[in-house]
Amino acid sequence: MLNRPGSPGSAVVRRASRPIPLALLLALCSFIPIMTAATRVVQIPLGALPEDSLRLAVSLPAFFLHAAAGLLFGLLGPLQFVRSLRGRYGAAHRWAGRAFMLAGAVLALSGLALLLRVESIATGLLDAARGVFGVALALALLLGVASARARDMPRHRAWMIRAYAIGMGTGPVGLVLFPLYLITGEPPTGVLTDVVVVGTWLSSIALGEWVVRRLASPQPGMAGVR
Ligand code: HEM
Repeated sequence: MLNRPGSPGSAVVRRASRPIPLALLLALCSFIPIMTAATRVVQIPLGALPEDSLRLAVSLPAFFLHAAAGLLFGLLGPLQFVRSLRGRYGAAHRWAGRAFMLAGAVLALSGLALLLRVESIATGLLDAARGVFGVALALALLLGVASARARDMPRHRAWMIRAYAIGMGTGPVGLVLFPLYLITGEPPTGVLTDVVVVGTWLSSIALGEWVVRRLASPQPGMAGVR
């Protein structure tokens, strides 16, 4: 109903799905995790981790790989979905796609390794979600590779969108939690925080699924990302 052609909803979708606004929207939502990952990639080799991340140093290789893979995955994802770039730079798109897959796989495996090896300060709810979504990310990437090999490109695109939504699913919550961290000087923790994080993760995955379904049924408004 909201997105019927000509309705206000369809106009919003049309505007947001043009190549540049889509990339900008994704960049805004993933800005904080990407910047955190970039900072850790520099801090880990320098041995300059902040006190509240020292916990993660018990598994330094997994921590470094996780941050480096998250950085690459977060940067490449939005670019891979812009059709005009895919058309103009086909070979670069394919190489970037391989790097995106590899980064996603390393992100999922290192995330699971951190989950198993690091003493958690989160609730069981968030840790369970990390376990489930870490495995789900690996599965989505495997299905994406399988469909690309089978030359089923619509299916490949759908699994890549799902993988991106799972991997970056907590990104938008940083827009709320990071300012809270700056104000209080303490990382926000507790049941309420974790409910918000998991809720954001599920919403991102639902949004990704919605995009997949819209792309599957021809809509003029999604032309930029098709
Ligand atoms: C399915 C996806 C993901 C899973 C399962 C996952 C899992 C984890 C786990 C278990 C931790 C340790 C948490 C702790 O005990 O404090 C962690 C930390 C971290 N993750 Fe992820 N993660 C995912 C996606 C991402 C992405 C996309 C990025 C970056 C763009 C990222 C960047 C980081 C960083 C920088 C840390 C360390 C935070 C700090 O220093 O306090 N993660 N992740």
